[in-house]
Amino acid sequence: MGLAAQAGNPVYDVIGVGFGPSNLALAIAAGERGAASPRALFLERQAGFGWHRGMLIEDATMQVSFLKDLVTLRNPASEFSFLSFLHQNGRLIDFINHKTLFPLRIEFHDYLEWAADKVSDVVRYDREVQSVRPLRTDGVIDAFEVTSTGQGGTSIDVTRNMVLGVGLTPHLPAGISRSDRVWHNQELLTRVRELDGRTPGRFVVVGAGQSAAEVTAYLHETFPQSEVCAVFSRYGYSPADDSPFANRVFDPGAVDEFYSSPEDVKQMVLDYHGNTNYSVVDGELIEALYSRQYRERVLGIQRLRTFNVSRVVDLVESDQETTVTIESLSTGQKTELPADVVVYCTGYRPADPVSLLGDIGELCRRDQEGRIKVGRDYRVQTTGELQAGIYLQGGGTEHTHGLASSLLSNTAIRAGEIVESIAAAKVAQVADIDRPHAVPDVVGLH
Ligand code: FDA
Repeated sequence: MGLAAQAGNPVYDVIGVGFGPSNLALAIAAGERGAASPRALFLERQAGFGWHRGMLIEDATMQVSFLKDLVTLRNPASEFSFLSFLHQNGRLIDFINHKTLFPLRIEFHDYLEWAADKVSDVVRYDREVQSVRPLRTDGVIDAFEVTSTGQGGTSIDVTRNMVLGVGLTPHLPAGISRSDRVWHNQELLTRVRELDGRTPGRFVVVGAGQSAAEVTAYLHETFPQSEVCAVFSRYGYSPADDSPFANRVFDPGAVDEFYSSPEDVKQMVLDYHGNTNYSVVDGELIEALYSRQYRERVLGIQRLRTFNVSRVVDLVESDQETTVTIESLSTGQKTELPADVVVYCTGYRPADPVSLLGDIGELCRRDQEGRIKVGRDYRVQTTGELQAGIYLQGGGTEHTHGLASSLLSNTAIRAGEIVESIAAAKVAQVADIDRPHAVPDVVGLH
C-alpha cells in the first residue's frame, strides 16, 4: 500500500523533483517565508547531495560570481549565503585576501552541500520519481500523486504543485554508447578512479567547450606518460564572453525583457550571446593549454595533440582496443587512432520536462514548435482541467526565459518567484473553499 493511501499522510503544497541547486534554492526560499512557508518536500535520486561530482576537478573554478549564490540576489541577509558558509568555516578573511569572485568548484560544492544539510528535513534522498498521476475532484485535477522508488521501496506522496528541477541530460552523438573505454565527461573522476592506477597510453577528448578544455588539461596533467588528443570542429578553442555588458544577459531584469520579446528577438539574443556559455572556454585555460603545447614543441615532445577543424567519424570497439577515425573537415583526410579511452565532452540537453508526467503531459499547452508553454512565473500553461501547478526550473525554459535558465546566475531570484506564485495560488484555492463549487481538501480523496 502506498504512503498516501495511509490515513494522516500530508498533502504537500509543493513537491520538488530533483535536488540540485535550483530546487535547493527553492527549499531555502520556501523556508525563509517563515510561518507562511508552503509545506514542501523534495525528492532526489542520488543517495546524498551531489553537484556534478564527476567534474569536481581540483583546480577548476566557478564560472559565476559567488554573489550569485543560492540566496544573495533575493535576500542579501540570508543565513544561506556563500559568505555565511565561509564565515562558519573560518575562511572568510582568507577568501577576502584571495581577491576573487570565482571560488573553486570544489569549494562551491562544499557550500551547496552545507546549505543542503541545513534544509535536510524537507529532502528525501535515494528517491527517483518514476511517475505522476492526476487526482481529480469534481472533474478537475487539483493534486498529483507522485510515485518514487529507491532502496527503501516505493513511496507515494500527494501534492498540489510540482516543481521539476531535474537538470540536463548528458548528450552523446548518435550511435555512441558509454563503455569502460567510452566516457561522457560527466563521469570523468569516477572513471579515472576506476582505472585504479593503470595508465592509458592515449586519450581522445571530443569537443571544444569548457568541459572539453578542462578534461584535456586534467588528463594531460594527471597522466604524464599518456598522449592526449583533442578533436574539435572549431579552428581553435574560443573564449567565453564574460565582459560586463554581455553579462547583463544573465540579470534578473533580462528575464523580464526576454520573456516579453517577440520570438525572432528571443532567437537573436540567444544567437548573439550563446558565446557567454555554449562551446566556449575560460580565457586563462585557453592560454594554459596553448603554453603546454608550445612547451612540448620546444622540448621536442608531442603529448598534447589537437585535431582542429575535424570530427570523429567512426569509433570501433573490440575486446582489446578502441579505434577512432578522425576526419579533417578541410582536407577530408582520415586518421585512424587507437585509443585507450575516448571522452565525449559533447554537452547536455534538456530532457522533455514533462516526460515524467505521463498522460498529464497531454494537458500541457505547447507552442507551434511543440515546446512547452511556460508562464513568466515558470508555471506550465495547461488546459482548464488541470488546476494543480507544474513549475519548471532549468534548461527547459531557455526558449521562454533566456540564457540564465540552465545556469546558476538567476537561481536565487527564480526560486523566490516560484515560491511566491505557489503561495498566491494557495491563497486563491483557500478563497475558493467558500464558494459553492469548492474543491475539497485532497486528503478527503484517500
Ligand atoms: P542539476 O542537474 O544540478 O540537478 C538536477 C538534480 O535532479 C540532480 O541531482 C538529479 O540527480 C536529480 N534528478 C533528475 N531526475 C530525477 C528524478 N526523476 N527523480 C529524482 N531526482 C532526479 N552554471 C553556472 O552558472 N556556473 C558555473 O560555474 C557552472 N559550472 C558547471 C560545471 C559543470 C561541470 C556543469 C556540468 C555545469 C555547470 N553549470 C554552471 C551549469 C549547471 O547546470 C548548473 O550549475 C546547475 O547544476 C543547475 O542546477 P539544477 O538544480 O537545475 O540541475
